[in-house]
Amino acid sequence: MIFRFFDSFFLLFLLFFIRFASLQAFTGTYGINYGRLADNIPSPDEVVTLLRAAKIRNVRIYDADHSVLKAFSGTGLEIVIGVTNGQLQDMSSNADHALNWVKDNVQAFLPETRIRGIAIGNEVLGGSNTALYGVLLDAAKNIYNATKKLHIDKLIQITTSNSYAVFQDSYPPSSCKFNVNFIQYIKPLLEFFQQIGSPFCLNAYPSLTYMGNPKDIDINYALFQPNKGIDDPKFKLHYDNLLDAQIDAAYAALEDAGFHKMEIIITETGWASAGDQNETGANVTNARTYNYNLRKRLAKKKGTPHRPKNVLKAYIFAIFNENSKDGPTSERNYGLFKADGSISYNIGFHGLNAGGSSHLSIKDINTHGLSRSYTITLILCLSALILMIF
Ligand SMILES: *[C@@H]1O[C@H](CO)[C@@H](O)[C@H](O)[C@H]1NC(C)=O
Ligand SMILES: *[C@@H]1O[C@H](CO)[C@@H](O)[C@H](O)[C@H]1NC(C)=O
Ligand SMILES: *[C@@H]1O[C@H](CO)[C@@H](O)[C@H](O)[C@H]1NC(C)=O
Repeated sequence: MIFRFFDSFFLLFLLFFIRFASLQAFTGTYGINYGRLADNIPSPDEVVTLLRAAKIRNVRIYDADHSVLKAFSGTGLEIVIGVTNGQLQDMSSNADHALNWVKDNVQAFLPETRIRGIAIGNEVLGGSNTALYGVLLDAAKNIYNATKKLHIDKLIQITTSNSYAVFQDSYPPSSCKFNVNFIQYIKPLLEFFQQIGSPFCLNAYPSLTYMGNPKDIDINYALFQPNKGIDDPKFKLHYDNLLDAQIDAAYAALEDAGFHKMEIIITETGWASAGDQNETGANVTNARTYNYNLRKRLAKKKGTPHRPKNVLKAYIFAIFNENSKDGPTSERNYGLFKADGSISYNIGFHGLNAGGSSHLSIKDINTHGLSRSYTITLILCLSALILMIF
């Protein structure tokens, strides 16, 4: 009897240990993209101050900027860096260049700077540069092999972020598939990511879906506000918000392609606080509502209707409004913060130099650190119990 008891606790302990020790580029559920296409945003050191005050621990940048990697050293912030689309060709055709890139931009900063992942290109498949479709996989393999050679492959997760353009038939979610035009590139890429235990990374923008079809989509559905929602007859599930529906559509496409176990992480989502005349819904009221409700949604640490056990993790786009981006006005207005470091709207974060001026307190939201300390406590308790049994 005692042995039974011991065995099950030991098993539990082991399971927790394995879970804790497995490759994870994400702590908690809330992260943020640190886009830097601007000539007027705060310095990396100020960004560290801002992120620590906001208790945001997971950060992504789109390159491997050394001033950022230095500023993040010793801060405890966990960062995913990027191989840019412009570097893919070189990384795919030259394994030595890939090795040197990883030495110079990753190994050189470890362990003080907690680099936890490398994103290989951004929104390559379905993007306008079709020449890159065929080189993405080899670039990923060469970078992965480089991390293996340097014995940091257990620390660094290799991924690539996909836009919604890789899918077709995403309504209702259960009918979603990968676009036939890209499936020849996607399948081998997913096989590789499955083999190395990487998640499927998705950039999902309910705001853009709404903008493309404001007559048929209830804006409350896109904003996590009370609404009728939609029913998925095949899944036999109800969706009350568009982001969950988009994620489950992506799960359906993965299943259709034979990848039943792969987890999805949202590497970008957000809502612009300003836009052009024809960019319906891009305004500060909606941006605040989306980002406030998204923060609450993530703090619940829940999965989606189709994958309730896969706790949703997302990186918000983005920290700052970026004045050097081209495209429509919305592109320059995704920031939770303005270029001067003040908040764009109040969702409970403080701006730089704001000195606690926020009137909003969202107790249920300030729990990013909780899950980890909870896990540690549980492990400690279990160890104590096991020792006691001995
Ligand atoms: C990566 O390394 C493995 C063995 O270590 C090798 O078989 C494979 O060809 C390498 N891949 C590339 C793209 O260099
Ligand atoms: C808004 O108008 C511009 C210029 O005509 C066009 O390029 C863009 O696609 C439009 N955007 C939307 C969301 O309709
Ligand atoms: C923002 O857009 C919504 C429609 O999506 C509209 O109802 C609301 O009045 C707008 N708010 C502002 C401040 O423009």
